[in-house]
Amino acid sequence: MAYFPAVFGLLMASVVTGQLISIEPRESVRRVGDNLTVLCQVNYPIDSCRITLGPTQTSYRLRPNDNDANQNVIYAGKGLESGECGAHIRQVTEDLNGNISCTLPPERGPVEITATMRLVVARPPSEPHLEGPSSPSFQEGDTFLARCVVPDGRPAAKIRWYLDDNELHEGLYKPVITSSPGADLQTISQNISRVLSADDNNMVLTCRAEHEALLEPKEAKRQFIVYYKPKRLEPGTITIFGLKLGAEGRLNVTVRANPPPRADWTLGARALPPGAGDGHVTALQPLHLGGGYYNVTLLISQIEKEDVDRKYYLRVSNDLGSEEFTVLISTLDEPTGVELEAGAIVGIVIAVLLLLIAITLIVFAKATNRWCFAGRGRDNTKSSGESTPAGDVLLTGMALPVTDTESAVGGRERSRLAGLSARVRAVLPRPKDKVQATEAAAADTEDKPLSEEKKNVVYAELALGDQPPTEKPPPPSTEYAEIVYKDQKETKE
Ligand SMILES: *[C@@H]1O[C@H](CO)[C@@H](O)[C@H](O)[C@H]1NC(C)=O
Ligand SMILES: *[C@@H]1O[C@H](CO)[C@@H](O)[C@H](O)[C@H]1NC(C)=O
Ligand SMILES: *[C@@H]1O[C@H](CO)[C@@H](O)[C@H](O)[C@H]1NC(C)=O
Ligand SMILES: *[C@@H]1O[C@H](CO)[C@@H](O)[C@H](O)[C@H]1NC(C)=O
Repeated sequence: MAYFPAVFGLLMASVVTGQLISIEPRESVRRVGDNLTVLCQVNYPIDSCRITLGPTQTSYRLRPNDNDANQNVIYAGKGLESGECGAHIRQVTEDLNGNISCTLPPERGPVEITATMRLVVARPPSEPHLEGPSSPSFQEGDTFLARCVVPDGRPAAKIRWYLDDNELHEGLYKPVITSSPGADLQTISQNISRVLSADDNNMVLTCRAEHEALLEPKEAKRQFIVYYKPKRLEPGTITIFGLKLGAEGRLNVTVRANPPPRADWTLGARALPPGAGDGHVTALQPLHLGGGYYNVTLLISQIEKEDVDRKYYLRVSNDLGSEEFTVLISTLDEPTGVELEAGAIVGIVIAVLLLLIAITLIVFAKATNRWCFAGRGRDNTKSSGESTPAGDVLLTGMALPVTDTESAVGGRERSRLAGLSARVRAVLPRPKDKVQATEAAAADTEDKPLSEEKKNVVYAELALGDQPPTEKPPPPSTEYAEIVYKDQKETKE
């Protein structure tokens, strides 16, 4: 009685109605040494209760109150008058694996009624094993095919797959359960296929067998070694920003390769094999960062002008192939906004806000006429000590002056705008804007916006007054043009 859970009884009561005889549970998996309660029930009083179990199907006549401590099988239930005939097995043994039946007297007539359940006495499976390619070495893109077999479990074991600590759900085939004839032990096998990537290198594939009769799962493991040719992490030409003339410079290029890569630099006609160098430039050995990532570094002890102008070619190779890089260096700071993804978003938002402010300022300036528009015949008064002949500055649309103009701006309005523009430019991608120094003498160009506006390029347009146009060579690509112009008063004709 004590073993009989109340919930169980409630469950039974509902099952019994409508059925002649019920048995619960209908199937059970137990380990050796576990206990088990099986209950049969009818909806009329009974006067006998028989349970048949074991390899010889031994029949036990069970009586309530006959609670002998030496007996392994005793009566369970609320009493014969309740129509309950159950067995409590104190210790399940291996040989109890099989059917357990109860036999009860009928409500009418002479034929006894019977119900049967199945007891599976769990037996741990043998060691799992992984069948597959004998060599652990693969190339990236190879398809790995293997089969995990967990033999002779009762019931069949369950297979789970892991790659390092992560459970795999992809590339798994349907598990197949087989049993040899005459034996009730079951063997389970499952196939797996996986296209190997660089990330799989050194990863451990685990086939884990889980089973009721195992305290700890049993595992079969296989480690992958995946080889691949050097891979670049960023496309295109690499530019190293923020280097300073006269200071030490490091040209870092991060690559991924397995086996370890060899790095060959070429500077003009000069080839620098790994480890080579003079006092000025040194090609350092690739530095392993872990996970197949290597930093390939060219060390420049003191950066000179020609180091900045030069192009650096890098060839990174291993047994499987090679990758080539062109590296440029720049003394400019790396443009913000393209550095980090989150930073880029913030940068764009700020840029848009600043753009709106700038447009508002321009509209305001135009409306209140506090802005001087260049034009033929306007009075220009020199107020600064600049000696260069210059004209009015015409700011068209989103006109953003280049860096050097900021120092030359005399008008407070414009320097404010200039500061603003510089900030706008700082968050925009690397400026491709060379100054559009339009040497227009005529006033008819005043209001014509330049087409570059569409490309988000910022520029300052110089509309020269009556003076002869300033002859300036086009500025070199890495430098900003210097625009000098004199201040003007807000005088009108
Ligand atoms: C066990 O019972 C099932 C029906 O529940 C029957 O098919 C099977 O033959 C029985 N097995 C044995 C060993 O009696
Ligand atoms: C599993 O792989 C074996 C070869 O290792 C093959 O014979 C078997 O058919 C495969 N089973 C399934 C279900 O794909
Ligand atoms: C380049 O790599 C060196 C180590 O090789 C490191 O000390 C340095 O910070 C790196 N520089 C840059 C700009 O990433
Ligand atoms: C490796 O190079 C990257 C730039 O490619 C740099 O950011 C990093 O600091 C370098 N790391 C080491 C350990 O040199």
